[in-house]
Amino acid sequence: MKKVRIKNPIELHINETKFFEIEISSLIIDSVITFELFISQENGLKSILKPNTKITQQLLNKLHSLSIEKVLTEDIQRINYIKYLEDNIRLIIAQNYFDQKTKSKVIYDTASDITQNLFENPDAMKNIRRSSKAVVDILLNNILQSDNALLSMMSVSSYDYYTYTHCVDVSMYSLSLGKMLQFEQIDLVRLGTSALLHDIGKTKIENEIINKNGRLTDDEFLKIKKHPEFGYEIAKNLGQFDRDILSGIVSHHEKLDGTGYPSGLKNGQITNFAQIIAIADVFDALTTKRSYKPALGSFDALRLMRNEMSNHLNKSYLELFIKMLGKK
Ligand SMILES: [Fe+2]
Repeated sequence: MKKVRIKNPIELHINETKFFEIEISSLIIDSVITFELFISQENGLKSILKPNTKITQQLLNKLHSLSIEKVLTEDIQRINYIKYLEDNIRLIIAQNYFDQKTKSKVIYDTASDITQNLFENPDAMKNIRRSSKAVVDILLNNILQSDNALLSMMSVSSYDYYTYTHCVDVSMYSLSLGKMLQFEQIDLVRLGTSALLHDIGKTKIENEIINKNGRLTDDEFLKIKKHPEFGYEIAKNLGQFDRDILSGIVSHHEKLDGTGYPSGLKNGQITNFAQIIAIADVFDALTTKRSYKPALGSFDALRLMRNEMSNHLNKSYLELFIKMLGKK
């Protein structure tokens, strides 16, 4: 069963300075923080960690023993905090005192925080290469390191739908399928990047439509259907010229029988990247809860894909995807 992720760290104002909350679990062992951390007390804020402090297991144990689970940092440090996550994310892989599930949760949460910032903070877009590289790097490392990584990341992934967690999920499934297909590492990185950015065009569409409670009107659906082309433009304008990566973004809603969008491409016209991402995308959409539908379990989702989408999805990739999840 997936767990519900708490969206958007809480923000608060103290003496007109804006702060945001960081969970202690997102501080990476062996990293050095570049920002000051505070706790809120009855008589105001108390500084507990200064910049340049090294995070150690002992330090985290001490905070846990004091029942400190969340700390505060100034909102102006947000970019520094994300940069800190990106710089240190690889250290998580090296931690050998975490069990696989804890490691996967830290990886999933860190990947989601970086992706959320990328998708929701316009200033972060200029760092798209750096952010997407950090996220894909860590997901891929986890997947290559352990055959159980996908299962443990699935068990901690978000039960509710957010565009950024969906994109992390789709990258994780695409990378796992790419691994099954024995892609070279360099191609896995390209595939994971394309999958992570596949819905970035949704950042151009009003939140009210993306998060609407209930079914979309025809007009709203027409707007949503523009997101693959918006995404292509965003990625290209930010210097992404890899044709396969761009194809995954613009063609992930194409269907093999030509009934997809935006171009109605058919089988041979749709790249491998787009066909892999399409499978990962549909599976994650079916297994995630939306306001208008409950989440299906993995088994029911795969059965529906096999029985009702055989004209849309690449059959041999789908069988491999089913085999991959069936092993779990
Ligand atoms: Fe999409």
